[in-house]
Amino acid sequence: MGGLFSAGNLPDNVTLNHFFCANCYEIFESGRENGMKNHKLAQRVAQISPFQVMAVLARAKALAAQGKDVIHLEIGEPDFVAVDEVAHAGVLAIQQGKTGYTSATGLPELKQAISEYYLSQYQVVVSPERIIVTPGASGALLLMASLMVNPEDDVLMPDPCYPCNRHFLVQVGAKASLVETSASDGFEMDLATLATHWSERTAGLWLASPSNPTGAVLSKAYIAEAWEKVRELGGHLLVDEIYQGLVYEGEDFSALSIDDDIFVINSFSKYFAMTGWRLGWLVVPEWAIEGATKLAQNLFISAPSVSQYAAIRAFSPDVLAECEVRRQTMNARRLVLLEGLRTIGLPVVAPAHGAFYVYVDVSGVTQDTMAWCLDLLEKENVALTPGADFGVKDAHKYVRFAYTCDGPRLKEALARIARFMAS
Ligand SMILES: Cc1ncc(COP(=O)(O)O)c(C=O)c1O
Repeated sequence: MGGLFSAGNLPDNVTLNHFFCANCYEIFESGRENGMKNHKLAQRVAQISPFQVMAVLARAKALAAQGKDVIHLEIGEPDFVAVDEVAHAGVLAIQQGKTGYTSATGLPELKQAISEYYLSQYQVVVSPERIIVTPGASGALLLMASLMVNPEDDVLMPDPCYPCNRHFLVQVGAKASLVETSASDGFEMDLATLATHWSERTAGLWLASPSNPTGAVLSKAYIAEAWEKVRELGGHLLVDEIYQGLVYEGEDFSALSIDDDIFVINSFSKYFAMTGWRLGWLVVPEWAIEGATKLAQNLFISAPSVSQYAAIRAFSPDVLAECEVRRQTMNARRLVLLEGLRTIGLPVVAPAHGAFYVYVDVSGVTQDTMAWCLDLLEKENVALTPGADFGVKDAHKYVRFAYTCDGPRLKEALARIARFMAS
């Protein structure tokens, strides 16, 4: 993923000495540019690649500032906000002064509510003690890397996958080992060959379902087989379920229903549309509770208290009913997008049954999706994410669409893309 930018594909206001923040889309100047020549960053900083989408974002912002009608299909967050009742619970917590640190692993009431949700929604018993509430799934991923991975280790994960996974491993001196997948196999790692990718330094396997960027949903049988193999090989299995609930076809289940020794990550960011509230959780096996608690205390002290008080309300029936309506809205958009892409000659091969993404092969029209995305943005003001952020193999052939705007806007975007391809 090195060498992502060349002078030719950068927006006017961005130089090679800028850093991009992965999620807030801000651009920061580097120390060098500020003239701080003696300031040396740790070597690991150089191992963390900037995101290609940020160049798209920066240009999209500049175009919007010029009054252009930019359609944003690049951003990985819902266009909804927290359901009113949840937001009000947050306001109440502030008014009542419930703003101090909480216990390191989370408010007992919230852990209890998450535990009850697993039972009522997914028919799985997860004791509250096994739930470690974190600052977003990002905090859970950092905790997981710190808890289970030694320096020099590697962790297997499919190519493509969520890019920050690799960077959390860099933080603990380890690395990701990407295993090739293909659209014809639904972007599923071939489990029959798992052992051939495993080495003495392999700590485990990290999967995500539904997946970012492909929208693929893994079956329960697949995860059960993966766990059987990983256990035989002596590693850990982590399943990132941050898009849980956003499943439109196939089974919406939790890997926790397979075995208590599987680690699971989740978040309030996506299904509950609470990205900026920064709240997620990690479920650990009994034997890892003490270690995870110690790390959580030291890494975070606690997750945001106001967000935790608000999130307790997220599992009440009225809020869940609203989330279900939103899920159906997302599904309707998904169908519009899939049909529209087929009509303009960009059919989606692999099933995209979950999250709010489709990952589209545009190699029929370009071999360089970064350049293609910037050109599309310039000419038709549609912003997409180039595949190179997510992996290596075939990444330059793919773009990710996020269906985080309404049906008419999606149709307008598709019409613009069709016109762009015909030009
Ligand atoms: C697969 C996956 N995991 C984890 C995260 C981190 O989410 P958050 O920290 O907002 O909970 C994201 C964010 O997009 C994601 O797509």
